[in-house]
Amino acid sequence: MDDHDDTRPATRLVALGRDARAGFDFVNPPLVRGSTVLHADVADMRSRVARRNAGGDGEDGTPAAYGIYGTPTHLAFYKALTALEGGHRSWAFPSGLTACTMAILAHVQQGDHVLIADSVYGPTRRFARDTLPRYGVQASFYDPRIGEQGRAAVEALFHDNTRLLFLESPGSLTFEMQDVPLLAQVARSRGAVSVIDNTWATPLYFQPLAHGVDMSVHAATKYIGGHSDLLMGTVTCNERAWPRMRETIHHYGLTTSPDDCWLALRGLRSMGARLAQHRATAEALIAWLKRQPEVERILYPADPGDPGHRLWKRDMSGASGLFGVVLQPGVAEARLHALIDGMRLFGRGYSWGGFESLLIPAAPERTVTPYAYAGRLFRIAAGLEDPADLLADLDAGFARLRSAT
Ligand SMILES: Cc1ncc(COP(=O)(O)O)c(C=O)c1O
Repeated sequence: MDDHDDTRPATRLVALGRDARAGFDFVNPPLVRGSTVLHADVADMRSRVARRNAGGDGEDGTPAAYGIYGTPTHLAFYKALTALEGGHRSWAFPSGLTACTMAILAHVQQGDHVLIADSVYGPTRRFARDTLPRYGVQASFYDPRIGEQGRAAVEALFHDNTRLLFLESPGSLTFEMQDVPLLAQVARSRGAVSVIDNTWATPLYFQPLAHGVDMSVHAATKYIGGHSDLLMGTVTCNERAWPRMRETIHHYGLTTSPDDCWLALRGLRSMGARLAQHRATAEALIAWLKRQPEVERILYPADPGDPGHRLWKRDMSGASGLFGVVLQPGVAEARLHALIDGMRLFGRGYSWGGFESLLIPAAPERTVTPYAYAGRLFRIAAGLEDPADLLADLDAGFARLRSAT
């Protein structure tokens, strides 16, 4: 396969995965729907199964013996993602949450302990807190900014039975950046695998595996899909993490439809252009928001005033369009609701990464590190509308906030 690793990221988004077209001459891979694969003869049946049993998985050229192992459409998407992440193998799951939970389940067993960032996506937190103990696995949460206290503080998080570290950087509600290389390095030295929810940065702006993380997870539902018409998660593994992940995928029968992989691959093609606009719009909105007296602080690692800016600059090559806005402590909930309820262009929706702007109130759940600000928080996903129209919508929203009682 041509990894196009001599070209720049935007070119790779367009070029990767196109050599998996299976003799088909159109630009895009065929949409292959199918369960049954027909074999030439018994020898062919046996050889495909033997190659698969020996670890063959499609991305290495092993032809599929059955639809659950992926069609050429799946493979085209996996190959593109694996190359972007600089990984060994990738797989798609029915949702971002399934990708998070299965990446954990693949690597733990009864008696193990896992470490979860306190800033993690809420349903991942609840899975770790409420479901893992039913399988004899205990989770504890850690301060996402622990890296600032140095290596010894990170080391102290690990118990003898800690098998997995789950990072999310930045957190998708509170936006703390983590010292990913340090955390991954300590996990590795303690014999634990590490996994990161990389959804905010996308595979374009951060390659966690190059920083020592074993698995990179995406809610492809967000920027990869990009059009709010897809639910999908992905996991990309290095060679160390893949065998257990692969076994779990096949033992649980985890698969997605080829139609969804086709949409995800189509999303990748335009992701670079979309992200550039998402960020430019986010920055225009942030510049305006900072001038409003009711705004105490913006949570966006690409902003020079953000506490995570140094790590963002060190590790990431770009930023997406999701950020938090902390209001002054005195701004009452009813005023925030007045702002949100009357928005014309910003939708009230629990997602992000689509073409449409969204604005929601946020109430972060925490276990070991309380939410750091006294004021109320809302979150904006900057979409692809004209920024001037979004600013007018926000301006009217702040007028409502001021006049509400
Ligand atoms: C950071 C993050 N990870 C994972 C997910 C889960 O993705 P999905 O909605 O596809 O399950 C979300 C969804 O909002 C998210 O924000």
